[in-house]
Amino acid sequence: MDSVEIRKRFLEFFRKRGHVVVPSSSLVPDDPSVLLTTAGMQQFKKYYTGELDAKKDFILPDGLPAIGTVSIQKSFRTSDIDEVGDASHLTFFEMMGNFSFGGYFKKEAITWAHEFITEEMKLPISYVTVFQGSDVVPKDEESKKIWRKLGVSDIREEGMDDVFWGPTGSSGPCGPTTEIYCKNGAGQDIEVWNIVFNEFFCTGSREELLAGKAELKPLPSKGIDTGMGLERLAMCLQGTKTIFETDLFQKPLGSLFQKGDLVSARIVADHLRAATFLLADGVRPSNKDAGYILRRLIRRMLVRATIFLNIQLDRSAVYQEYIEDVMEFYGRWYPELNNLNNKADTLSAFVQEVSKFSVTFQDGLRIFHKKLASETIITGKDAFDLYQSHGFPLEALRDIASQKGITIDEKGFESEFERHQEVSRAGQEKKFGGHGLILNTGELKAGDEKELKKATRLHTATHLLQQALRDVLGDSVHQMGSDVTSERTRFDFSFDRKMTSDEIRRVEKIINEKIRENLPVGCKEMSKEEAEKAGALHFFKEKYPDRVKVYFVGRTLEDAYSKEFCGGPHVEHTGEIRGVRVVKEEAVAAGARRIRVVLE
Ligand code: SER
Repeated sequence: MDSVEIRKRFLEFFRKRGHVVVPSSSLVPDDPSVLLTTAGMQQFKKYYTGELDAKKDFILPDGLPAIGTVSIQKSFRTSDIDEVGDASHLTFFEMMGNFSFGGYFKKEAITWAHEFITEEMKLPISYVTVFQGSDVVPKDEESKKIWRKLGVSDIREEGMDDVFWGPTGSSGPCGPTTEIYCKNGAGQDIEVWNIVFNEFFCTGSREELLAGKAELKPLPSKGIDTGMGLERLAMCLQGTKTIFETDLFQKPLGSLFQKGDLVSARIVADHLRAATFLLADGVRPSNKDAGYILRRLIRRMLVRATIFLNIQLDRSAVYQEYIEDVMEFYGRWYPELNNLNNKADTLSAFVQEVSKFSVTFQDGLRIFHKKLASETIITGKDAFDLYQSHGFPLEALRDIASQKGITIDEKGFESEFERHQEVSRAGQEKKFGGHGLILNTGELKAGDEKELKKATRLHTATHLLQQALRDVLGDSVHQMGSDVTSERTRFDFSFDRKMTSDEIRRVEKIINEKIRENLPVGCKEMSKEEAEKAGALHFFKEKYPDRVKVYFVGRTLEDAYSKEFCGGPHVEHTGEIRGVRVVKEEAVAAGARRIRVVLE
């Protein structure tokens, strides 16, 4: 059965049983406590905690509340990255799931899963697992009974590590699970479906929970959260030995697998597909957070492809073709891969990253080969130099080293890394007098010149932000505070409700449009009265001198898009900001909201 049919049957199976079909959410979640979306339940977290009401939000065509929801969710996990290349692990994958919030529980969830696998898919179940119990959570006898009644005899008990799911992020819903294992084409038993009984709210992260440092409280809306990897189910149904031989990889990326080393081809295929989806959801390579994950993914892929598949970096057209093939194949289900502008942006962001990496990579490779000619171990210092000056991710170094049969002194690498961090901290303190936050211009906080440049870009972006907020939300919006660092700008403003996601998107769009227009930023000194008459915005809490500076974005003060009382510094043209993204909008006090914006 091909994956097109699997998708259709899964959604249809649960739709017929009273579920509402919900589209996948973005890989960049609303939830600030996680970097990327790792599971289907993430977009529904608030229905379990009781903050949102599923009965109001998920309505069937006949007007009645749905029994639950069903989705196929784009997911990304770094936790399995080292296993990518084997039969069943991926970074990006699609997770099929059904969910209930305060509605059906173990009996229905297990019975439907059993029916879907054995009757709809006609796949035998090898065995299932259930929770064996822990200090705080009792053994799951109920699930065991249900499975037995359904005729499954191989029921294995497992513990917290394997069959207790969640929470995602720093707190959230979690609970014991039961898993279904089926055979792939190589006769291996593979976990295909994880059915979570969300019963608890965990007050801390999963790590804290396992260390006994977080509490489990009963959830307001007990429910079901299931997740079945589309790629794994396809492998079992199509009788292939690995997920890479399923149509999900062969259709868009089949020719990659003719190019040489098979494990490398798998890693490249996984990383390429993942990078395409991340880029299309707006993640851009950077040295932080999700951007850093993406950068490492792309770099590791490039290293693998160059060395093992002989796809040279200067032939970025080859990569582009693969990315286009991925977008075309998956675009049927994911509109963001089908949108012309977004496609072009995705490709150009990718090409930019390749060319950025390409020069330093070639140098690094030369150094690496020179070292290899005389040595059988790469010292921590050499590895760190390659990492620091040439942007070689450690994983990539490891890949090359293992292929050449040499070792990298990873301990040495780590101590070199730590030493370097200390030195750079000390250097910075010496340079700026040891006060932590240094180049404090009154408006901006930055530690060195490089940071100051970033903060300056964000400062101008803050002016655009204020005007964009007024455009979208009305002139009642006034600045109540702001804080600009090199990492982000935080802007507080008067407004009495949460912004909708559409409003946030519009604000973001306006700012980015003004950036694209590459408007000049000017400054004029004038009397306070003149400035007020010109319509320049000012921060009401501040006391201003009689003569003030007005920064304006536009060709003249009169037709400027934004005008504000301000001491600077600012960029000369908005194009220097390059692009921004709103990362968070939240309440800060009654009638006041706080919004955070970062550079792209
Ligand atoms: N949240 C669970 C998982 O990710 C089931 O969907 O495995």
